[in-house]
Amino acid sequence: MSSEPISPGSGRPAPALTFASETPAHAAGIEALLDRAFGPGRFAKSSERVREFADFAPEMSFCALENGRVIGTVRMWRAAVGDQPVAFFGPIAVEEGDRRHGLGMALVERACAAAEAAGEAAVVLVGDVPYFGRAGFAVAPDVVMPGPVDPGRVLSLSFADVELRGAVCPRA
Ligand SMILES: CC(C)(COP(=O)(O)OP(=O)(O)OC[C@H]1O[C@@H](n2cnc3c(N)ncnc32)[C@H](O)[C@@H]1OP(=O)(O)O)[C@@H](O)C(=O)NCCC(=O)NCCS
Repeated sequence: MSSEPISPGSGRPAPALTFASETPAHAAGIEALLDRAFGPGRFAKSSERVREFADFAPEMSFCALENGRVIGTVRMWRAAVGDQPVAFFGPIAVEEGDRRHGLGMALVERACAAAEAAGEAAVVLVGDVPYFGRAGFAVAPDVVMPGPVDPGRVLSLSFADVELRGAVCPRA
């Protein structure tokens, strides 16, 4: 997907802001943003264990750009739960000074729409229900993450009537 203006509903002036599919040209800006947002502990998360075996999915991963500078990022990965193909979501981050204008949820919705369009059965993530519940995510009680995690933070959004049960694992 090429760059396009963010909707005026984002509360920010549209011309300066665009969404773009992630490309290698965004990588340095994304890494710097993730370092600022999560700090040095970002690689200790159980989600990182999934990212070690899952394939990065650039067609479902997006940046929010302000005059070409990365101010928001969401990344997606191809994995599986049992025999169901799922998109594993994250990380997501928005530059601190640009939060609470809807950019985060716009990135969530865009990534999930891309996953559905790509034929994924569901999106799985580790995160907070009060936030991701706004996009329709709910606790996935039978999905098991590699490594320790609060089971109440393992969430999914299904696109079909599928049963998600088992470990998050590499796609066959
Ligand atoms: C989470 C994050 C991406 C949201 O970006 P954003 O652009 O501010 O998101 P939105 O504008 O769509 O939503 C903001 C709202 O979500 C709330 N919110 C943000 N993080 C939340 C969380 N973890 N739990 C509950 N609510 C949360 C904000 O308080 C705000 O509430 P309001 O609408 O009542 O003011 C951003 O706060 C961020 O980068 N945080 C640091 C990285 C991080 O924690 N990533 C998520 C890991 S699970």
